[in-house]
Amino acid sequence: MPIEIIPTGAAVGAEIRGVDLAQPIDDVSFATIERAYNEHGVIFFRDQHITPPQQVAFTRRFGEIEFNIFGERWSVAGSPEIVVVSNITEDGRPIGVRRAGENWHSDMCYTARPPRGTMLYALETPDLHGLPLGDTEFASAQAAWEALPDRMRHRIEGRQAVFDFTGRKRAFPPTQTEIDRNPPVRHPIVRTHPCTGRECLYVMRDDCTGIEGMDAAEAEALIAALAEHIIKPAFIYRHQWRAGDLLMWDNCTVQHRAIQDYDMPRRRLMHRTTMGGAVPT
Ligand code: OGA
Ligand code: MN
Repeated sequence: MPIEIIPTGAAVGAEIRGVDLAQPIDDVSFATIERAYNEHGVIFFRDQHITPPQQVAFTRRFGEIEFNIFGERWSVAGSPEIVVVSNITEDGRPIGVRRAGENWHSDMCYTARPPRGTMLYALETPDLHGLPLGDTEFASAQAAWEALPDRMRHRIEGRQAVFDFTGRKRAFPPTQTEIDRNPPVRHPIVRTHPCTGRECLYVMRDDCTGIEGMDAAEAEALIAALAEHIIKPAFIYRHQWRAGDLLMWDNCTVQHRAIQDYDMPRRRLMHRTTMGGAVPT
């Protein structure tokens, strides 16, 4: 079957049809998928039926795999690379990370080498009388950069922001060991995508606690204004999940957030894998 790439029509995102991820993917097909991923920032495949090892193997096609900090607590039996993202509790205990990323963010931006991308495979999705709940929104940090006025571009180009692991409130507060393992890091506010060469804004309100060489009040105002700019409606794609969706996003091109509009007994269960990354430039 030929591979079809159907853009969502929003600033980011495309559906890929004609791929069965449970079957081996030849190099030519994979190159088509990877090109679409780089170009569209978010890609998804509907109606997939894959095992945890198949998801891990597909993730590895994009490079190394990253072990997320949550994996130590909530991985899939036999597949330590997979983190369970879920609101489900069994015997009073959560089976996975709940409320992973309700505020806009780019995954693990507080690390020196943030992951290239993240993959979610939807096993169970919540709905209300057939109306899907628990959507995920994606904002194009590339379109947001391209829409900035020249004066703002000049103001921020070449600047570094401080990213602090403790800046964000988490549903599961980190341990002291996790805090010690993640000291503050610096990244350019304007990143160049390692594959496409396109520039993208890289500023998060919760995680960015300052800008190098700028006084605190001015930095705070700038971070807030840029973070709000990135999430303007024109830059957003909102994904309505169906069980069987495998979706992946690029952590340079987009920011994302989970919409928390459901709760038990409505169940949401995702298997998440994370790709290794590089130092942002
Ligand atoms: C994540 C994340 C969003 C969602 O897993 O990094 O932000 O909708 N998930 O589950
Ligand atoms: Mn996330």
